[in-house]
Amino acid sequence: MLAAHGILLPLVFFGLMHVVERSQIEQFMEQVRGFARVVADEFELGNALDSPERSQALLDSAILRGDGVYAELLNPGHDIKSTLGLAGLKRPLHQDLDFGQDGDETYFIMLPLDHAGHQAELWLGFDERTLTAQIAEARSRILATLGAYFLLTMALAVLVGRWLSRPLIELQQRSRRVASGDYALRLDAATSLREVVELGLDLDRMRGELVGVSERLRREIAAKEAIESERRVLEVQLRRRHRLETVGTLAGGVAHEFNNALVPIILYTESLLMDAAPKSSESEQLEGVLSAAKRARDIVRKVLAFSREFDTVRLERVSLQSAVDEALKLFTALMPASIDVRRELADDVPMVLADESLLTQLVMNLCTNAYQAMQVTGGVLTLGVGVERGAAGSVVELYVRDTGHGMDTATMERIFEPFFTTREVGSGTGLGLAVADGIATSFGASIIVDSSPGQGATFRVRFPPAATADPKVTVAKVHPAGNAA
Ligand SMILES: Nc1ncnc2c1ncn2[C@@H]1O[C@H](COP(=O)(O)OP(=O)(O)O)[C@@H](O)[C@H]1O
Ligand SMILES: [Mg+2]
Repeated sequence: MLAAHGILLPLVFFGLMHVVERSQIEQFMEQVRGFARVVADEFELGNALDSPERSQALLDSAILRGDGVYAELLNPGHDIKSTLGLAGLKRPLHQDLDFGQDGDETYFIMLPLDHAGHQAELWLGFDERTLTAQIAEARSRILATLGAYFLLTMALAVLVGRWLSRPLIELQQRSRRVASGDYALRLDAATSLREVVELGLDLDRMRGELVGVSERLRREIAAKEAIESERRVLEVQLRRRHRLETVGTLAGGVAHEFNNALVPIILYTESLLMDAAPKSSESEQLEGVLSAAKRARDIVRKVLAFSREFDTVRLERVSLQSAVDEALKLFTALMPASIDVRRELADDVPMVLADESLLTQLVMNLCTNAYQAMQVTGGVLTLGVGVERGAAGSVVELYVRDTGHGMDTATMERIFEPFFTTREVGSGTGLGLAVADGIATSFGASIIVDSSPGQGATFRVRFPPAATADPKVTVAKVHPAGNAA
């Protein structure tokens, strides 16, 4: 805009000036030449040339009638000059061909006269200053007009530019904010420019679609991740279960043989005990044999239970509260005074699908471990039931918490392995948690452990929402896995 004006305005100015100047000057010259011609005619046709007085009078009247400032008649021998002209004005050697020549501010015209063979020269001078002043005024007027026009258009250009660019800049800024994560921001600009409004609408529609797409992608990714992590959990559970089943089958076979071997030992020892004198060293030794054999039988039974239990599970609706109460009844009597047993029950706990006696065994196994962790130091054993209500149903959990020695991650990774134990040889079988896990799995539940060294341990048996809902569905879910071995 500025550049265009910078080129155009001077062109317009000089063009206009030229036209104005030329037309004025031409008009002026035409006028003075016409006038000069009239005067020359008067000299040629009249008799003014005959006497110097008449010539003088005609020259004077030429000055008085027009804009003349100089009038002279060159007659060979005697020149006559009007005294009315501007004093001190000198006639140039040649007449002026153009306006403003010689810098004398006078326009000189020479006309040759011929009157009946009499030759003379008529010189007339006209004031150029009025016209010069007029031209100067015209110039300044044109300049002022063009200047005003220039300022006005520039101001207008700036205003229009702002009006056009402000909404675009706003749109641009909003787009950048959207691009940098502010997806909810609307893409529009306050303007009455239809094109910009439409651009804003189009951009906003695009934003809507993109946001929709990215939202959908995010949801899909989240869903995939959820599925993936669920799959990983299932995989771990499956692996654990496979291992369990393999060991279970093997252990079951061995235990069966063992049991067969133990039965006669116990029977014979019992009959020998009956015959032996009470309180004798003989009977004491036999008691020792018997209790060792019975302990061996207990272990064997555990192993048998562990290897068999998946096939024999019959799920019913069971109340976790009563299971906890049952376990507490059995346990509080056995606990030393150094261990404080507490109960925490949530309100309105839904029933779960389980086998009551197996559930009791599970709780007992967890409580035994908790007790053993606090045996030396004493502490608090908490047995509780909690509910997590969600959209898919309620997750019910039974937990056993102790304030005992806890365990490190390396231990925690292996505790569910059959025969894994950290206890001295003879005092632990390493089957408690393997059995507990097997039982939980047969309920469709899972066990989660939370512990660190010195911080105690919490074991949670979590029953999934399905296990608390329609019994049929859940039974169908549990059985195939149970028969897998
Ligand atoms: N509450 C607990 N606190 C600390 N360690 C525990 C707890 N429960 C189980 N453990 C660890 O898990 C191991 C395996 O437990 P378990 O399967 O019951 O076998 P066992 O009790 O015969 O050793 C235990 O030897 C112990 O190291
Ligand atoms: Mg144990």
